Amino acid sequence: MSNVIIRSFRPGDRNAVCTICCDSADKGEPIERTLADREWAADLLTKYYTDYEPSSTFVAEDNGKVVGYILGCFDNRRYGLVMLFIIIPWLLVKGLTRGVFFTSQFWGVVAAGVHNWRRLFHWRKTSFHSHQAHLHVGIAKGHRGHHVGRQLVETLVSYAKTKGVHELTASVHDSNQAACRFFEHAGFKVQDSHPMIMRRGDALERYTALLYVKKIF
Ligand SMILES: CC(C)(COP(=O)(O)OP(=O)(O)OC[C@H]1O[C@@H](n2cnc3c(N)ncnc32)[C@H](O)[C@@H]1OP(=O)(O)O)[C@@H](O)C(=O)NCCC(=O)NCCS
Repeated sequence: MSNVIIRSFRPGDRNAVCTICCDSADKGEPIERTLADREWAADLLTKYYTDYEPSSTFVAEDNGKVVGYILGCFDNRRYGLVMLFIIIPWLLVKGLTRGVFFTSQFWGVVAAGVHNWRRLFHWRKTSFHSHQAHLHVGIAKGHRGHHVGRQLVETLVSYAKTKGVHELTASVHDSNQAACRFFEHAGFKVQDSHPMIMRRGDALERYTALLYVKKIF
C-alpha cells in the first residue's frame, strides 16, 4: 500500500470511480440488491461530483490504478438545483431508454422513497440549508483498512479550508459500522438521525440514517 498517492480527479478516472461506487454503495457491498442497472445507479450517485464539481473530488491511486475516491460538494444548494433541474430529468430519459423503470425492484425503491419523504424533507431543510457541504467516500475492497480513506478525508478537509468551508457532512447507515467508526475516527460527530426504510432484494429493511458533521477550523 506504500505506493498509494492521493491526487485530484481527472475526467479519465470516472469509470473507475463509478465501478468502486457501485461495488461499495450498499454498506460496502455491491449495489445490485438495491438497483440492478449499475450505469444508471452510478450516474445517480456520482454524476454531480465528477461532472459539475470535479475540483472537490480526489482519488487514491495505487501503481497507476484508482483504488478509492472522495466526492465533495461545497455548495449543497447548488447540488440540489443541479440534481433537480439537470441530472434527474436526464436520468428520467436515460432510465426510460434503458428500461430501468420497468422493474419491480425500481418501484420498490420508489415506494421506500415515498415512505421516507418526511425524513428526506427534513434532511433537505437541515442538511441543505443549515450545512454547507457534504462528501461521499469509497475504497475498493482489497484496499480497505490501509488508511486510504483517512488520507482522502484529510485531503478534502485541507482543500475545504482553502475554500472557506467551515463544516463537512456525511450521511451513513447506522448498520454500516465500518463507516461509523471511520467517520468518528476522522473527528465527525453525529448531529442528526432519522428512521428510514429501504428495499433490498425482496425485503423492506428498517434502518437509521445518521448525519455525521465535522467542524473545520
Ligand atoms: C468506510 C471506508 C471509507 C473506510 O476507508 P478505509 O480506507 O478502509 O479506512 P482507514 O483505513 O482509513 O481507517 C481509518 C480509521 O477508521 C476506522 N475504521 C476503518 N474501517 C474500520 C472497520 N472496518 N472497523 C472498525 N473501524 C474502522 C479505524 O479507526 C481506522 O483507524 P485505525 O486503522 O488506525 O484503527 C471503507 O470501508 C469503504 O469504502 N466502505 C464502503 C463505502 C462506505 O461505506 N462509505 C461511507 C459512506 S459515504
